[in-house]
Amino acid sequence: MLRILVLNGPNLNLLGTREPAVYGAQTLDDIESLIVTRAAELDVEVSFFQSNHEGALIDRLHEAMGECDGAVFNPGAYTHYSYALRDAIAAIGFPVVEVHLSDIHAREPFRAVSVIEPVCIGQICGRGAASYTDGLEMLVDHLHKEDE
Ligand code: DQA
Repeated sequence: MLRILVLNGPNLNLLGTREPAVYGAQTLDDIESLIVTRAAELDVEVSFFQSNHEGALIDRLHEAMGECDGAVFNPGAYTHYSYALRDAIAAIGFPVVEVHLSDIHAREPFRAVSVIEPVCIGQICGRGAASYTDGLEMLVDHLHKEDE
């Protein structure tokens, strides 16, 4: 069974109360429940990790080497400037899909830039919680094709 890591970066632990007009009313627990349901339908195993710290996210990606087949990652604001996270994704050797709740291309100009995107197999944004479940589907499709 494919093992997928779902990783969330800074401030995403505050979903539900954080700028609900931008990010919606669902908490991170709510979103993780939706992902668990979709993962069961896709017959894959999911694990979750959230941190407000860049190094902790990098450490989790490193730990996932040999343990996970791929990751769905919302790096939060690190998306826009963390070359360290970009290098980590390039180094780990398993596919990562970048996801965002909001449409980063329709907000402040600094958010339209993702330094992570070039090392990911895809980017899904602007679909709220569905960005995560769509991202999971994209990743699972990619992993199945790799297997063919
Ligand atoms: C976000 C978009 C980022 O620009 C922002 O810093 C976040 C959340 C999103 O999910 O829409 O923290 O990644």
